Amino acid sequence: MKIQGIFYAPALTLLLPLAVWAQEPPNCLSCHGDKELKKDLGGGKNQSLFVEQKDYLQSVHGNLSCTSCHTGITANHPQDQPGKVDCGICHSQETEAYKKSIHAQVFAADPGAAPDCLRCHGTHQIQKSNTDKFKKAALDQCGQCHADYRRTYFDTYHGKVVDLGNLKNMPLCWDCHSAHEILPASDPLSNVSKERVLATCLYCHPDANVKFAQYNVHSDKFSVKNDPISFWTYLVMVLIVCFAFGLWVPHTILWFVRDWLENRKKRKGPGSNPPTETGGGA
Ligand code: HEC
Ligand code: HEC
Ligand code: HEC
Ligand code: HEC
Ligand code: HEC
Ligand code: HEC
Ligand code: HEC
Repeated sequence: MKIQGIFYAPALTLLLPLAVWAQEPPNCLSCHGDKELKKDLGGGKNQSLFVEQKDYLQSVHGNLSCTSCHTGITANHPQDQPGKVDCGICHSQETEAYKKSIHAQVFAADPGAAPDCLRCHGTHQIQKSNTDKFKKAALDQCGQCHADYRRTYFDTYHGKVVDLGNLKNMPLCWDCHSAHEILPASDPLSNVSKERVLATCLYCHPDANVKFAQYNVHSDKFSVKNDPISFWTYLVMVLIVCFAFGLWVPHTILWFVRDWLENRKKRKGPGSNPPTETGGGA
């Protein structure tokens, strides 16, 4: 018996991969590497099912197998459709934080209105979050839905420096609001609530006090309600500039016209011929 067992073992080991292969779904990219592979959504619409291998391999998940995310794939695929991917199986911390956010609440009611993981990170091309490329794309994402806050951010000190290309030291939206557990300022647990905003500033401004934290980082010079001082200063400056230019431009134009008319008169008038040596001076 023993001798027989030793004899069969290597043969079984050789057969094992074949057996596993028979249960595993076939190589995904043999079908999904085809640019033309589409799913018919009805009504003349379709969804591309193409996955670019190059992008996928360069993503943070490039060394994971497709089925580590698409866990629902069976040997019957594509007859059986996999369910939605759950990022939370590997990123529980971010997922738990996100679930508490205002974004998750709004998303549950209206998926188009607020972001989920995929809206901010993508699917098969997910990059490390500390790259400039990701940061710029994420800033754009926030800005698409919060246009006024984007504008006021880039209008004030932090945003202006970021605009000049310094993404390293300056706070981006999520350095103040957090990335996943975003809450309204009225919620005491929000990073920017009146209870916690000082701690948020202190992170980078070690000398900050309550007064410093009251500085309006989203100061809006177009809104008298948001920032009356900026609003009136801006308005008065614009009026002064308009007044100055309003006087200066017509004044300069009139001056040119007068100059031109006088020159023409001089050229045409009696004194316009150059004096001759004999008679002109007499
Ligand atoms: C034989 C070709 C083939 C292979 C191999 C294949 N798929 Fe598919 N897959 C399809 C087709 C066709 C559809 C669309 C089915 C439909 O129209 O409902 C599909 C649909 C899907 C969808 C669902 C798209 C959606 O939004 O409904 C996912 C996800 C998917 N495949 C992932 C995979 C993964 C992961 C693998 C490898 C483990 C794989 N597929 C292997 C052909 C294939
Ligand atoms: C990091 C997780 C992850 C990995 C790894 C992954 N996918 Fe996906 N994939 C997703 C998500 C998220 C979606 C969006 C739909 C959903 O939530 O199920 C998706 C959607 C798809 C779709 C539907 C079409 C589309 O682009 O929306 C196909 C087909 C697909 N994946 C195939 C693959 C194949 C093939 C691989 C391996 C080369 C792979 N996926 C690896 C997360 C992943
Ligand atoms: C099967 C486990 C698994 C799943 C599911 C998964 N990831 Fe990942 N994810 C990883 C691993 C492993 C890394 C690489 C960690 C590293 O390199 O430090 C990673 C890295 C990341 C990073 C970069 C982290 C950083 O340090 O900047 C992001 C962002 C990310 N994943 C988002 C997602 C999203 C969004 C989903 C859902 C669509 C998802 N992941 C699904 C395993 C997973
Ligand atoms: C509103 C946009 C947004 C949503 C929604 C979002 N993320 Fe993020 N995520 C970010 C930003 C921005 C960063 C970079 C944070 C930083 O650098 O401090 C990040 C960072 C990460 C990281 C890197 C590690 C870390 O925490 O810094 C992982 C992993 C991640 N997100 C996964 C997820 C998962 C999983 C979901 C869904 C549950 C999700 N994210 C939803 C914007 C988002
Ligand atoms: C797809 C659109 C969308 C994207 C992308 C998005 N948000 Fe939101 N955000 C919302 C919606 C919707 C609300 C709910 C309150 C509202 O209607 O303004 C919200 C609420 C907020 C709030 C609380 C304010 C309030 O009025 O309740 C903050 C702060 C916030 N988001 C910051 C961010 C930041 C930072 C990013 C980028 C990392 C981001 N958002 C990306 C749609 C979005
Ligand atoms: C330096 C920290 C800081 C940065 C950076 C920052 N914010 Fe804010 N944000 C705040 C503070 C503090 C408040 C609350 C006071 C206020 O409304 O001005 C706020 C308020 C908000 C609100 C309204 C919250 C509410 O509940 O009414 C939204 C939305 C918002 N910010 C989005 C953004 C977006 C988008 C970005 C990036 C373009 C950004 N913020 C960058 C500190 C910051
Ligand atoms: C991620 C880091 C970071 C966070 C968080 C942050 N700042 Fe800043 N801030 C900077 C840097 C860097 C400068 C450049 C000048 C400096 O070094 O003091 C700056 C400059 C400023 C300036 C103009 C110059 C000055 O020092 O007077 C003001 C005002 C300011 N921040 C207010 C705030 C307020 C209010 C908060 C909290 C709501 C805040 N900042 C949160 C990094 C940050």
